[in-house]
Order: sequence, then C-alpha cells, then structure tokens
Amino acid sequence: MAIIAPSLLASNFINLEAECKMLNESEADWFHLDVMDGRFVPNISFGPMVIEFIRKTTTKFCDAHLMIQHPEQMTDQFKNAGADGLTVHIEACPHLHRNIEQIKSLGMKASVAINPHTPVAELADIIHDIDMVCVMSVNPGFGGQKFIQHTYEKIKQLRKMIDEKKLNVLIEIDGGVTIENAPLLINAGATVLVAGNTVFKSADPKKTISLLKAV
Ligand code: DX5
Ligand code: ZN
Repeated sequence: MAIIAPSLLASNFINLEAECKMLNESEADWFHLDVMDGRFVPNISFGPMVIEFIRKTTTKFCDAHLMIQHPEQMTDQFKNAGADGLTVHIEACPHLHRNIEQIKSLGMKASVAINPHTPVAELADIIHDIDMVCVMSVNPGFGGQKFIQHTYEKIKQLRKMIDEKKLNVLIEIDGGVTIENAPLLINAGATVLVAGNTVFKSADPKKTISLLKAV
C-alpha cells in the first residue's frame, strides 16, 4: 500500500478550502505542494504564502516540491509556512549536500527530485543522507502530462540501490500517475504516488484516492 499524495496544482484554486477539506476527509496521506519559480521550470505556481494557508486547513503531511533555483534562500520561509518535507531538484543544486543538511537542520524531511533525463546513478553519494527520492515521470512544470515509460526502469534501479545499501528511503513518483499505472509503479518499487489530474479531474476525487490507496 503506497502513500498517496494528491497534488493541489490540479485543484480548483477558487475553492482551495473545499479542496483541502475533501483531501482531509479522503484516504490521502499527504498534500503534495508544487512550487514553481518560472526560472527552473517554465511556469509559476505558488509559494510559502499560499502554503501557510493550506497548512492551516490540515494536519496531514505537507510535501513541498520545490521546482526553483536557489532553494537555500527560501528554506526558512517554507519551514515557517509549515512544510513538513522539502524536495529540491538535483539539477538546481550544485551544493546539494549543503541544501539537504540545511533542510534537516530545520527539522524537515529532505528529499531529492531527479528529472527524466537524470540518471539514478547520480544519487549514489547523497542517497544515505535523504528521506526520499522524487522520480519525475514527466518534465516538471505542468500537470496533466503523459507518463514517461522509461520511469519504470529508473524505479527498479533505485529500488536496487536502496535495498543493497539497506536504507529506508521512500521512492516518490511524480507526473502522469493513473489508476492503471499505479500497480506497475508499486511493483517496480515505488512507495509514494503523487496524483494531480487523476484525482482532481475525476468525477469522484475521494473515490479515486481510495482506488489508488487500495492498489
Ligand atoms: C509537475 C508537478 C506534478 C504535477 C503532477 O511539475 O511536479 O506534481 O502536479 O500532475 P499530474 O498528476 O496531473 O501529472
Ligand atoms: Zn510535484
């Protein structure tokens, strides 16, 4: 049974309070919060101010996915906004180890995201220091994109790396997750599934979350 992390990026922002309430009443485990800066990715979403409001609606784990350059300049702000975990991109962090230590020193879970073109092998010297790897199964920046099939191979490689080192690191899959591919992702070794459009654009989001949870 995977951790289910619906992405509010696909929610109705006019009704954000109702969307949060729906997630609270659902079997969702986490809130996935996609932060985009218009620099690292070609889109802008929301930042700490909005997360602070979302935080007030829930006691569930707030999983902030930072698709931004220089995350070290805003780590404090995300902590103060109430994020429980921060994910930074390996491609945006020349001093990744320092970024991870900073996040952990503030009492948050620390996670590293890898874009579709980034080999799993690049995690070899940071995997011991992190709580989770976020494997991007689409190019970050937008919801509703098509799942990239090569992701399965990357999940298997990562599962092997983590198991061989006897580590307890979560594997999160982000982008194009559906009811259909969820079992395949879990079989390959995924432990956290992010789902935006699959949840929020479905006729019955709570039921969709239950279906994902039941996989
Ligand atoms: C993409 C974001 C994802 C996105 C997933 O840049 O990181 O979290 O919201 O959306 P879906 O599930 O619709 O692909
Ligand atoms: Zn995300």
